[in-house]
Amino acid sequence: MSEAAIIDGKAFAEGLRGRVATFASQFEAKAGRKAGLAVVLVGEDPASQVYVRNKGKQTVACGMNSFEHKLDADTSEADLLALVEKLNADPAVDGILVQLPLPAHMNEQKVIATINPDKDVDGFHVVNVGRLATGLPGFVPCTPLGCVMLLKDRLGSLSGLDAVVIGRSNIVGKPMAQLLTAESCTVTIAHSRTKDLPEVVRRADIVVAAVGRPEMVKGDWIKPGATVIDVGINRVPAAEEGKTKLVGDVDFASVSQVAGAITPVPGGVGPMTIAVLLRNTLVAAHRNAGIALDENAI
Ligand code: GUN
Repeated sequence: MSEAAIIDGKAFAEGLRGRVATFASQFEAKAGRKAGLAVVLVGEDPASQVYVRNKGKQTVACGMNSFEHKLDADTSEADLLALVEKLNADPAVDGILVQLPLPAHMNEQKVIATINPDKDVDGFHVVNVGRLATGLPGFVPCTPLGCVMLLKDRLGSLSGLDAVVIGRSNIVGKPMAQLLTAESCTVTIAHSRTKDLPEVVRRADIVVAAVGRPEMVKGDWIKPGATVIDVGINRVPAAEEGKTKLVGDVDFASVSQVAGAITPVPGGVGPMTIAVLLRNTLVAAHRNAGIALDENAI
């Protein structure tokens, strides 16, 4: 069987960041200020620290302002909510991202609900979830939007294709299903209780795996020629003693023998998330400043 084409998310994300930079400099000329993204990190989770540092660096590299707020792990929920309110009112801040997960003593839903929906570049606020569900303009979560961009780049129109999304999280699975429905796919959401998952997945022209189970999706689950998007990022022990490596939710070795195209881990969906966040921030800046932007051009 022939090898699947590799969908290069790293290269696509680079191109997207380039387009964001071009439009960001045009925004600055028109608005007389840079677009701005505020990122709030509570506590010292090492993975979150890396994400936040990368977000800040890439925001500045695209010609936008990055406002980083680092709070101690024992900060009260009231203090965090007060910071979010301050950022809501700050005209230099177009987008607000509160890095998740939050410490256990905080109510994530309450914190997200406090973000102004028009600055909610993560697309997590119920208002944006409702806008996505009803087809109104809003903000769409970054990872699923990045997946759709890669799919459309690879396949062109997705109309009429059978799509199976494995995973039903609020951050990936559910918005992914909404976006594919809007692209006129026939969508199935599969999850841990799905009966005969391999058989369900075998129907799909498009498979999106977002379950957080290392290498769960196997080659004999895949319809020959299908396009496979692997959202998983799982750290597992490597062959060499004491070392670890990153793998997706898809067993790349077997699936790449059957699929038509596949995203690798790393270098597939991962790099898209921050690039889409920057895109959403730039869109927010234009909408909030009342400056026209062809949102499809980026
Ligand atoms: N933690 C892991 N991914 C994300 C994300 O996309 N947004 C936020 N706010 N937190 C995260």
